[in-house]
Amino acid sequence: MLVAAVDQGTTGTTVCLLDEEAAVVGRGYRTVGTSFPRPGWVEQDPAELLRGVVDTVAAALADAGRAPSDLAAMGITNQRETTVLWERRTGRPLHPAVVWQDRRTADVCERLAAAGHGPRVQERTGLVLDPYFSGTKAAWVLDHVDGARRAAAAGEVAFGTVDSWLVWGLTGGRAHITDVTNASRTMLFDLADGAWSAEMCDLLDVPAELLAEVVPSSRVYAETDPEVFLGVRVPIAAVVGDQQAALFAQACFEPGQAKNTYGTGSFVLVNTGATLPAPQSSLLRTVAFGLDGESLTYALEGAILSTGSAVQWLRDGLGVISDAEQTAALAASLDGNDGVYFVPALAGLGAPHWDPRARGTLVGLTRATGRAHLARAVLEGIAYQTRDVVEEMAAGAGVTVTQLRADGGAARNPWLMQFQADILGVEVDVPENIETTALGSGYLAGLATGVYAGRDELDARRRTAARYQPAMGEDQRAALYGQWLRAVERSRDWDR
Ligand code: G3P
Repeated sequence: MLVAAVDQGTTGTTVCLLDEEAAVVGRGYRTVGTSFPRPGWVEQDPAELLRGVVDTVAAALADAGRAPSDLAAMGITNQRETTVLWERRTGRPLHPAVVWQDRRTADVCERLAAAGHGPRVQERTGLVLDPYFSGTKAAWVLDHVDGARRAAAAGEVAFGTVDSWLVWGLTGGRAHITDVTNASRTMLFDLADGAWSAEMCDLLDVPAELLAEVVPSSRVYAETDPEVFLGVRVPIAAVVGDQQAALFAQACFEPGQAKNTYGTGSFVLVNTGATLPAPQSSLLRTVAFGLDGESLTYALEGAILSTGSAVQWLRDGLGVISDAEQTAALAASLDGNDGVYFVPALAGLGAPHWDPRARGTLVGLTRATGRAHLARAVLEGIAYQTRDVVEEMAAGAGVTVTQLRADGGAARNPWLMQFQADILGVEVDVPENIETTALGSGYLAGLATGVYAGRDELDARRRTAARYQPAMGEDQRAALYGQWLRAVERSRDWDR
């Protein structure tokens, strides 16, 4: 029997089919279309997301030469915060999905901050007042779609992050759920209570009638509807935000263990155990996972909003490269960065700067600057941003990261991984399977259905493929990082 591990990410949908030994025996991938209707707006088509999941599972089954009836369970992990509202009766979305990178509610967040709500929001939800999160996005849709507020008050509208939307669709509208990790990204969820917060719903003007039932990250919730899903009923046995899924698959089960996933953005999460950390000024507190019958495990998170998307922009926006992998050779072709820095604030700046009005900034150009400098500056920018959040973890929260487990597409880039170790002064450990987000959902689904015995078994299955040790001298590290901080200052508060 197989576990379908589904990862509906920002750039595409990945499905890994796992066998009883948690080995990947089949794989599928489909890209997802994204539109940018105005500067700062980022949208996707909810119907395409749902269709993409079904098609990608079918592709993975074809890859493995197996049938839908071989599926024992499905786990779903997803791009977080992306917001969908739909009509409960018909399942029709009210509006395109408002993607997590979308900045359209920056003014709402500024107003709430100016009115002094920031500290209370942080205390209850663990989040900072930034348009990144779902709550203000949901309110925006209600305020901009004709009749939406009235329909919402009448209980006719459902809100969900992508997990909720997919489960709703895959079960033919039978389940409206979200797991604790996804709920903790909405700004509507009380971290300490582990439940929706009436106070936050009020503050953000999101009626409680919209909300899904909050469930653990690992449990059999419902079965797929054969009419929608490949003619079979498959238990949906895990729902988990993608960064939390990666933390789980990286076997960061103990407090202090940390991972960074290099995807569209990059997200450093450190397990902090069952105790909710004290409010942080610029890091997020979030649910790491919630297993059935256990108390919640929490994490500190440094959310970096644009990293892989900056490489994508080099390729698709500028045509500087034709393939992301070229960046490693281009970066290595130079002895140094020659003073060229790129701050990838393409969706504003996330942790620890939190500036939705920052813009991408390229500084230090001379007549000698070429495409290799650009590629190198983009990769360096990814590594510096990671150092920003790791430093903040030490300075603000007293959490020292002693090893960083890396995953996601860019963990395949050896130049970046070495530079990351150098600029952090910390070992970077890359596992054999870097598709940890998908794996995490599969592991959680396998635990709920008894396919996998427990966390010890999963820990034992994690194997290191490469370790990168810091090799840069302290002076050089400090000089490079100092210039980076100057570049960040120049990117800030630009979009006025
Ligand atoms: O919070 C956003 C995050 O979940 C998106 O992840 O992998 O789609 O960049 P990814």
